[in-house]
Amino acid sequence: MKKNILIVPGDGIGQEVTEVGKKVLEKIAEKFGHEFTYDEALIGHVAIEATGNPLPDETLEKMRASDAVLFGAVGHPKYDNDPSAKVRPEQGLLKMRKELGLYANLRPIKLFDELLEASSIKPEILKGSDILFFRELTGDIYFGEKGRKNDGDTAYDIAEYSRFEVERIARKAFDAARTRRKKLCSVDKANVLETSRLWREVVQQLAPEYPDVEVEHMFVDSAAMMLIKDPRRFDVVVTANLFGDILTDEASQIAGSMGMLASASIGDSTGVYEPIHGSAHDITGKGIANPLASVLSAALLLDISFGLKEESDTIIAAVDKLLKDGFRTRDIADASTPENMILNTQAAGEELLKRI
Ligand code: NAD
Ligand code: IPM
Ligand code: MN
Repeated sequence: MKKNILIVPGDGIGQEVTEVGKKVLEKIAEKFGHEFTYDEALIGHVAIEATGNPLPDETLEKMRASDAVLFGAVGHPKYDNDPSAKVRPEQGLLKMRKELGLYANLRPIKLFDELLEASSIKPEILKGSDILFFRELTGDIYFGEKGRKNDGDTAYDIAEYSRFEVERIARKAFDAARTRRKKLCSVDKANVLETSRLWREVVQQLAPEYPDVEVEHMFVDSAAMMLIKDPRRFDVVVTANLFGDILTDEASQIAGSMGMLASASIGDSTGVYEPIHGSAHDITGKGIANPLASVLSAALLLDISFGLKEESDTIIAAVDKLLKDGFRTRDIADASTPENMILNTQAAGEELLKRI
């Protein structure tokens, strides 16, 4: 198969982990006889430094022209502590999602058995957890009107959802539930928010079309609690942009680490595949980031954008083997991990390639 893949590493550890993700794609192409070509583009802080724009037109054009995008992360400490900054790395990410119409963000929370002990949650609660989040990605409080009034002393962000926006993400989640354990949990705050009441109304109206899917509605505060109390009760979860952002960082602890969670952002145009983690200033440049979220994002890319299921499963099996053989990066090591089995980013990549 011939495909062109755009690599967009972005900032901080985005650079470090995407390098490994790309090597894995190269190895898969070699093993299965595919012809993947690669181009690279700037986003985030590195793009601001080079062009003044967190999402240069050239990057957006390259994204539209490619068959899939492997994305790293954006962010820089300089902006995190400067609320007055008008141009910010994160604007590049949000604009990319909006411009490419990436309304569905799939975040699989799958615990590799070997990492049962890496989580701070008890193994007997965790074992067998397997959740697929559908986070709506182009609406909500992220994209509504925002501003200041009262001479700047009052700030507002407006949350907005249309019936159309809720329906299209809900249908994706219903369809996915059908291929899994046939349970859908829709998470909202319908006891308080009007957007959530519309959300619940739409999901309720769709439910009769999917009689084989068991639907449950849960308030987000309760869902946050239930994820830790009993993660196995969840199969597919569908929720709004902000709730999905927060709940999936929480859910990363079910999988052991932020460094394990991949995502697929899909919609009207090219699909973008990215770890859920950020640029991680605290470990940037140390070479110790876990590259597996990027590697598993590459696996999602092959499966979802190219329909290459066997190739995708080969990557997942290699990750499984790496962990079974006892190798860990620092974030997923536990007290019983021998020091010589704790790998840096590059070494983890090399050991992984040997297992593909
Ligand atoms: P973060 O996800 O970057 O890091 C949170 C914690 O998890 C840190 O302790 C970090 O070291 C650890 N971590 C994350 N990924 C890891 C990996 N692969 N291996 C090992 N440890 C890992 O979140 P943050 O610290 O809140 O944000 C840092 C910057 O990233 C901010 O500027 C933020 O805006 C940005 N951000 C970007 C994205 C994105 O590009 N999709 C996502 C989240 C945060
Ligand atoms: C994510 C990030 C982004 C989000 C930020 C950096 C804009 O946290 O991809 O999860 O909130 O969507
Ligand atoms: Mn996030």
